[in-house]
Amino acid sequence: MNFAILNGNIIERSEAKVDVEDRGYQFGDGVYEVIRVYNGKMFTVNEHLNRFEKSLNSIGITLPCTKEHLTGLLEELIAKNNLKLGTIYMQITRGVAPRNHAFPAENITPSLVAYTKEVDRPLESLKAGVRTIVTEDIRWLRCDIKSLNLLGNLLAKQKATVEGCFEAIQHRSEEVTEGSSSNIFVVKNGVVSTHQSDNLILKGITKDVILQVCTNNNIVVEERAFTLEELANADEVFLSSTTAEVIPIIEVDRKPVADGLPGSITRKLQELFEQEIEKQCGTLKDKIFN
Ligand SMILES: Cc1ncc(COP(=O)(O)O)c(C=O)c1O
Repeated sequence: MNFAILNGNIIERSEAKVDVEDRGYQFGDGVYEVIRVYNGKMFTVNEHLNRFEKSLNSIGITLPCTKEHLTGLLEELIAKNNLKLGTIYMQITRGVAPRNHAFPAENITPSLVAYTKEVDRPLESLKAGVRTIVTEDIRWLRCDIKSLNLLGNLLAKQKATVEGCFEAIQHRSEEVTEGSSSNIFVVKNGVVSTHQSDNLILKGITKDVILQVCTNNNIVVEERAFTLEELANADEVFLSSTTAEVIPIIEVDRKPVADGLPGSITRKLQELFEQEIEKQCGTLKDKIFN
């Protein structure tokens, strides 16, 4: 049997249903998180819950329970579903109310849903790297909120998919922002650069781990908006996300990145990132460099 969390209770997943007037369903009026699970343990759970609360607060919703309580519920869900390697998807919407753009006058109870999914590490992509396209960033100006409204991201990802690519790298004018579901990094002359965490991108949890790992290992790293030209002339390019981890990008818009093979700093960061996973979640069975 498979279980899900609905409003604080763990119930059979097939029983987890939402009302047609849930504001998440009608307006995308809510936020979400995706947390990685390795060896049955959540990776960077506190960071994810902090970002979850920040996203909620920025749209005027209060987390309906403490983060400690939520962590306990998620741990219980992982155990009940016997999840070893996968993800937790979790979302909170403003709740159920008669359809009206304005927030309901009365305080309504936010709807919380969470469920698990078995997801392997993308080992083939982690080893070989992936191809990408470049596309204009047509999204709104609060990309720091992990909103349920993902149409801009979906259109970009679909464009990449149709072209047989893994990810779409988005840009505003000359500046690269982020992928449709990932943060983007370039390496030039040994310096790692990625867009600063402002309103134009999602402050990736994986990105923050990478920044920390760089600092701890004397790899020079800077947060600044780099240009399309810098992207085209980079020595190495890679992307990061909770499910993708650190994936080398070997092609941008049908042109190889440098010699078309994953670069040495990307490889080093993959190795260091695996070490971070193992510190929190224990030994990984299948590794990138086995
Ligand atoms: C638009 C966007 N940027 C960046 C990321 C990476 O964030 P994280 O490392 O927290 O998964 C995601 C993850 O899904 C995303 O959707």
